Amino acid sequence: MASPAAGVVVIVGSGLIGRSWAMLFASGGFRVKLYDIEQQQVTNALENIRKEMMFLEQSGSLKGSLGAQDQLSLISGCLNIQEAVEGALHIQECVPENLELKKKIFAQLDQIIDDQVVLSSSTSCLLPSQLFAGLAHVQQCLVAHPVNPPYYVPLVELVPHPETAPVTVDRTHALMRKIGQSPVRVLKEMDGFVLNRLQYAVISEAWRLVEEGIVSPSDLDLVMSDGLGMRYAFIGPLETMHLNAEGHVPEGSRGSGAFSCQTAVEGRMSAETRQAEKADAVPIRASCEATGLPYRESRSVESPAPNPTTRDQWGAGQSSWRPGAWPQPRG
Ligand SMILES: NC(=O)c1ccc[n+]([C@@H]2O[C@H](COP(=O)([O-])OP(=O)(O)OC[C@H]3O[C@@H](n4cnc5c(N)ncnc54)[C@H](O)[C@@H]3O)[C@@H](O)[C@H]2O)c1
Repeated sequence: MASPAAGVVVIVGSGLIGRSWAMLFASGGFRVKLYDIEQQQVTNALENIRKEMMFLEQSGSLKGSLGAQDQLSLISGCLNIQEAVEGALHIQECVPENLELKKKIFAQLDQIIDDQVVLSSSTSCLLPSQLFAGLAHVQQCLVAHPVNPPYYVPLVELVPHPETAPVTVDRTHALMRKIGQSPVRVLKEMDGFVLNRLQYAVISEAWRLVEEGIVSPSDLDLVMSDGLGMRYAFIGPLETMHLNAEGHVPEGSRGSGAFSCQTAVEGRMSAETRQAEKADAVPIRASCEATGLPYRESRSVESPAPNPTTRDQWGAGQSSWRPGAWPQPRG
């Protein structure tokens, strides 16, 4: 666990997300200054955090190795931004999703911060190039987008401005790991970042399937909550494809009108993505070995397709999903 002496984290905006960040940083042993323009908001936030932490402790769900009282003693409210940022190692902005408001706050912070602190935004969809344009400390700026509720959902998307220094991303990545979050590096800014792009791809297909009368809305939701969602809680779509489908579509199935997930995904993969995926194979292999799952050495589309006919072959490094043929992808 981090020592409180490791530094101070400032939360700008004590609403829903600001409170959650405050609890997370306190759980990691950091001193937290919760800044807001509204005194009442700060008062409410501190009271809400106190209740929440006591409840979490009673139910055995409090994060970190400190007790609730110790964590609470690390969090203080603040109405003076200049005082708040003094000696801070990280500032996490959590004000409403309004570009002009956020730009104004970052311009203000830019005037008073030192050259060390990381300036981070919780924005859900504003791009770093919009938020941090023209700031003197742009190299210290990035987006760290949490997922609601951040105390329970660990993912944080780290999105740099084109001028963000790599060390800023590295430091934020390490900080997020210290407080138990799961940071991912979004290598270039893009509308929706990654999580929301994936989410909207699913929503878009869900709408289409319902609109075309393929499935009812409630059954569509069940497909996700009792099916795909359960799988995706443990492994991502690329790892799923890696484990379930050979990277080859048998000639016989081409033009048959049958649907191949592998084709759908690989057809859209650029050479760069394939390369990145290949580089990722080492950790994938390690995780397969650790969990006893089969690992396939090559997923090249050029490799000959295995053609399993018995259930025994499934999951024995020979797996393949051919349209219309058993086995289906693992459900
Ligand atoms: N709510 C979510 O599901 C969610 C999820 C991920 C990211 N986010 C992002 O987090 C950010 C905050 O969202 P939220 O839901 O916590 O909002 P919120 O409305 O709950 O809280 C905003 C807080 O900012 C304060 N504030 C307003 N102007 C301020 C200023 N000038 N200086 C300091 N504080 C100020 C308000 O008093 C309020 O306490 C947004 O950018 C949002 O997109 C939200």
